[in-house]
Amino acid sequence: MNRDSAKIRIDDLRHQIDKHNHSYYVLDEPVIPDPEYDRLLRELSELEELYPEFVSDNSPTKNVGAEPLSSFEKIEHIVPMLSLGNALDEDEMRAFDKRIKDKLSIENVIYSAETKLDGLAVNIFYENGILKHAATRGDGQTGEDITRNIKTIKSIKPLLKGKNIPERIEVRGEVFMTHADFRKLNQQQEKNNQKQFANPRNAAAGSLRQLDSRITANRPLSFFAYGIGDYEGALDFHSHTQVLEMLKEWGMPVSPESRKINGLDEAISFHRQISERRMTLAYDIDGVVFKVDDIEQQKILGFVSRAPRWAIAYKFPALEEMTQVLDIEVQVGRTGAITPVARLASVKVGGVTVMNATLHNLDEIRRKDVRKNDWVYIRRAGDVIPEVVSVIMDKRDENKVVVFQMPTQCPVCGSDIEKQDNEAVYRCSGGIYCSAQSIQAIIHFASRKAMNIDGLGDKLIEQLKQEGFITTIADLYSLKEKREDLIKLARMGEKSVDNLLAAIEASKETTLARFIYALGIREVGEATARSLAQHFRVFQNIRVANTDELESIQDIGPVVAKNIHTFFQQEHNEEIIERLISPEHGGIHWEETLQVEQSSELTGKTFVLTGTLISFGRDEAKEKLQMLGAKVTNSVSKNTDYVVYGDSPGSKFDKAKKLGITLLSEKAFLELLNT
Ligand code: IVH
Repeated sequence: MNRDSAKIRIDDLRHQIDKHNHSYYVLDEPVIPDPEYDRLLRELSELEELYPEFVSDNSPTKNVGAEPLSSFEKIEHIVPMLSLGNALDEDEMRAFDKRIKDKLSIENVIYSAETKLDGLAVNIFYENGILKHAATRGDGQTGEDITRNIKTIKSIKPLLKGKNIPERIEVRGEVFMTHADFRKLNQQQEKNNQKQFANPRNAAAGSLRQLDSRITANRPLSFFAYGIGDYEGALDFHSHTQVLEMLKEWGMPVSPESRKINGLDEAISFHRQISERRMTLAYDIDGVVFKVDDIEQQKILGFVSRAPRWAIAYKFPALEEMTQVLDIEVQVGRTGAITPVARLASVKVGGVTVMNATLHNLDEIRRKDVRKNDWVYIRRAGDVIPEVVSVIMDKRDENKVVVFQMPTQCPVCGSDIEKQDNEAVYRCSGGIYCSAQSIQAIIHFASRKAMNIDGLGDKLIEQLKQEGFITTIADLYSLKEKREDLIKLARMGEKSVDNLLAAIEASKETTLARFIYALGIREVGEATARSLAQHFRVFQNIRVANTDELESIQDIGPVVAKNIHTFFQQEHNEEIIERLISPEHGGIHWEETLQVEQSSELTGKTFVLTGTLISFGRDEAKEKLQMLGAKVTNSVSKNTDYVVYGDSPGSKFDKAKKLGITLLSEKAFLELLNT
């Protein structure tokens, strides 16, 4: 059969099966005998396996009927689903091993070990290799019919494949959710304004017990089989290891963390190994299950109440613990994101002492309603940062708890904290000043499309910061004064230092667009920087622009306009910019394409500024003069027309006097500008 005819056949089969489903489930009047129905389903499933490009979520292999149920039917397990005894420490594990050896009169036990998954136990019933129904564990005797939902789980095959498939078999295993899927699901829930799940287990349980299987189909569930219940047919196995092998051969997913174990010592060391790797696994486990591997020995050992004597769950310390929130503070990340953190009364979680837990963002604090002095559950999951799961409301003392307020100033640098309407996070606006963000800021500043400082890579920046050579981008331009000290640095040398200093020197000659981009204002990329440069032409005008003016520029929306405005409002950012562009310090410059409105008295005149002006900054004065067509230079010569002097003028003042150049006080200068 070729691809085209396969597609035609698949469509035909789906159509037929849908029709039979309707007759069977809705009309209660099946038109074909069950084996015939099974044959159609098997053919479809096989074709879907051969041509996975035609697999679809609404195929009858995935769903039985689509209408939500009004309640779950009950299903009785043929062989009851048992529970497991626990060992909480090594002594209890040793006692378990001893009981088995005594009872069997043997010296050493061979175990089959598996991770104990933290999910939900299910029983899946296959008849002639076809998935017939599936149920939750329930009370161990009777569970709820979740057949439709189980069929939506991608890794559970509707058909067993391979040889020696029994006529009937109950496959047992655990439905769970991986950490990555759990995070994605919670993000999706948040976007849709739906409730957050506290942990992967709750998410898996909530997803599996859905009356509408279409909802389950959209939830990322996983499954590992760990055993069998009743079966009928000629199966040839003598150990639990063989049972797992068989399940794998039939296409059932089995945990890769299963192993045959020779004796107690190996069991204990396996438990330790898994415990060390626990946090790096993709899903939650709460221990290791040890099962006597030999089936004959299992039969001799038998059961005690509702648990087998031949198996035990050797548990890990819990991942969730209770403690009290002593305070809620904020931390500033490398990108300026402000993260609220709960300071906790120290508590051991999963074997590690925890004193802080992330609260992610303000929305999260509000949603969970976490307050200072509350009692909370703390959880350490796959990653290492513990988080607050929920508040224990019963333990709340209304007179003692304090509602968290987001600070308005960055705790590291004092700049304003800002929030964007479209984001949950608050951010420090002191991008180039804040020392929490400075590494990132310097890396960006030096990058090729920004100031293009050759040879100043991430590692060197980290080193220079660490050794105290630079704190902000402005310090790059004082490095030349520290040449001798730089040469002494590890991995540096005369040649590389000189190259670096030359590259920094060369970066001073740039364009306005590059310079704006280099400042790393949030969401101001190259294109936006170019638009700003083109529109305003003069840097000073960008610095003082209000949000309305900024928004009038093409491609700049309210969010970016606010970012730009806030950035230049920060006194500390301004200080750094001033240092970068002042001729005495950074000396970064570019050619400003001025639009001289009309020729004025000052057109073509050459000015020199010295001393501190009160009415405006030196650069503002410079820009004003340039707008009028005048030139501003740094040194006094016989070509200078005017020298403007402010408070405590420098040697330029004396030189001008000597050369007989017109000297203008600030007052006289203002009058001249106004004419
Ligand atoms: S064997 C007779 N193996 O633990 C043996 N159970 O208390 C019965 N579980 O809810 C279970 N991982 O869902 C077994 N690898 C594993 C398991 C496992 C998780 C759960 C199971 C049940 C509970 C038993």
